[in-house]
Amino acid sequence: MDHDTAQKRIAALRAEIERNNYQYYVLDNPTISDAAFDSLMHELRSLESKFPDLVTPESPTQRVGGMPTKGFATVQHRVPMLSLSNMFTKEDIVLFDARVRRALGRGDPVEYLTEIKMDGLAVSLRYEKGLMVQASTRGDGTTGEDVTANVRTVRSIPMNLASVGTRIPELVEIRGEMVMFLRDFEALNEARAASGDPPFANPRNAAAGSLRQLDPRITASRPLHMVAYGLGELSGDLNFLTQKAVLEWIASVGFRISPIIRLVHTPDEMWATTREIVAARPSLPFAADGVVFKVNEIALQQALGQTAREPRWASAWKFPPEEKQTRLEDIVVSIGRTGVATPVAVLTPVEIDGSVVARATLHNEDEIRRLGIMIGDLVTVHKAGSVIPEILGPVVAARTGSERPFVMPATCPVCGSRLVRIEDEAATRCVNASCQAQVRERLLHWCSKDAMDIQGFGESIIDQLVSADLAHDVSDLYHLTEEQLVHLEHMGPLMARKLLAHLEESKGRELARVLYALGIPQVGQVSARDLARAFGSIDAIEVATPEALAGVYGIGEKTAENIAAFFREEHNRALIRRLQTAGVRMTPLQATPSRGPLSGKVFVFTGELSSMPRSAAQERVRALGAETSDTISRKVTTVVAGSAAGSKLAKAVELGIEILDEQQFLSLIEQST
Ligand code: IVH
Repeated sequence: MDHDTAQKRIAALRAEIERNNYQYYVLDNPTISDAAFDSLMHELRSLESKFPDLVTPESPTQRVGGMPTKGFATVQHRVPMLSLSNMFTKEDIVLFDARVRRALGRGDPVEYLTEIKMDGLAVSLRYEKGLMVQASTRGDGTTGEDVTANVRTVRSIPMNLASVGTRIPELVEIRGEMVMFLRDFEALNEARAASGDPPFANPRNAAAGSLRQLDPRITASRPLHMVAYGLGELSGDLNFLTQKAVLEWIASVGFRISPIIRLVHTPDEMWATTREIVAARPSLPFAADGVVFKVNEIALQQALGQTAREPRWASAWKFPPEEKQTRLEDIVVSIGRTGVATPVAVLTPVEIDGSVVARATLHNEDEIRRLGIMIGDLVTVHKAGSVIPEILGPVVAARTGSERPFVMPATCPVCGSRLVRIEDEAATRCVNASCQAQVRERLLHWCSKDAMDIQGFGESIIDQLVSADLAHDVSDLYHLTEEQLVHLEHMGPLMARKLLAHLEESKGRELARVLYALGIPQVGQVSARDLARAFGSIDAIEVATPEALAGVYGIGEKTAENIAAFFREEHNRALIRRLQTAGVRMTPLQATPSRGPLSGKVFVFTGELSSMPRSAAQERVRALGAETSDTISRKVTTVVAGSAAGSKLAKAVELGIEILDEQQFLSLIEQST
């Protein structure tokens, strides 16, 4: 790879990694698997090592994690909160031990303490004279968030070390993992489902989401626990010789520690404890994702030191994803939003790593050939990155001769049009752009959370709209009437009006969302944002040349060509005109902090304000973390009524929503700024 290409690729990788860091660390909402993320980091590290002059201080490789959220005060960790290098095999363990002994210049064995690796959120608790004075999250390892108020609500965390322990130092930071127990996690999700809230994907997200609440009362209602594993700053007359002594002291002042700890001395013993902990995993009360080995003697830890990211004296062996065998009952073809026909494996349902797997994508015909699977085979399945079900291959020995190969159908299973395999591509497509399957997927994508985020438009409504011939493209959604909606299944006038209000509200979504929602090939959320930022309006993007598009940071040549091709299509341009006519505004991106003093509030402005135009007022509250809406609904928390406010004000009164006059509004934003 030449220097220029490397530079571009590095820029793209950094943007992608930072986006995912943000998703993962700030929003606690990862959008790709750990494995996919690790491979991005791996590629970046290897490119940077080939082109060292391209390494910059702000590269994700130069830092330990993500960034702190606005809204919480930040806390500097005087002793950084490090991460751990990963090991996956016994060979990795042998190498780790060899590295440690070489660095220490020792031929004889080193003693390690084995602990469970808890899967939660790292926190650091600062105690002065035994009293907890501050609690913070790990953040990027150097700067975390102040979550003191929230941690105080966790009953199992001692506020005064002296209440249980005796040897209390002047100052100590106790570090550990905030977790939610599995049974509490299940109960919480059941309660959320009953009240219509979305469930948490896993106990780690539940713990993180519960701890990083701006309202500590919510945290108090969530069952969190801390499992402590080490110390940060320490001063006073306590002195520890070993990690084991550290843990014993931590336990002595009232903390839970890893329920299994073992002293080991050789790679064989280390491997044996991994077997023990794998066997104990199903009976642990919390989620665990591996085993941590730490050089036991503190003096040796100090001699070994650390790199920027991780200690040389500790490493984590990660649990392998569980693998199960199950029957491949069938391979069906599903048609996506761009017409691509994707073969999907239909499996005899099987539980893997805690959830039931019944389907797995097979991507394309080439992949099926590569795997060598046939319908009727017994197949091995796992969850890649512990999330996405994946077929690893057939159990050839179990074949009976009744298995049959998969043949891609010649026609679309939905509309009967021809399926065409594109030259130079692995994909097969349905050629009919108005194929109901494609229309359905485009509508679903348009309404989805990351796109236009239109509540209520899930599969069941969209399926009905498509089969009732009420929506052929996304602009049709904005012409739906209450009359049409009430005729759908399980739909009353109240619900219909709600759906229309959601549609109305979505007209104000920013340009980046619209661009993503349009489903332009290769334009994901990041590229959509980059484009919106660079061009500011859809009209400017529509007329941009591929060269101008490729000039945008983060947009490659192929994507640029795809975007230009999309906008060259007359029917796409017509669609955009129809959306604009329907009132979809495609507003330029606003740099709104997701958290601020007004987070959680939803404002509606009605009537005229004398001090500023309505759009400016909306921008002000958004900048303070609030959302704005054009219509009154139960979600709205505050209505600002200017002069000549009309029916919205009346409706707000009826619903008992807080109403501010202009003066009250101005003093609110003054206080919050
Ligand atoms: S020790 C200096 N011990 O794993 C060593 N970490 O991948 C720092 N974790 O950020 C960490 N269980 O949040 C350590 N028994 C354990 C752990 C543990 C879970 C987490 C911790 C850390 C991450 C590193």
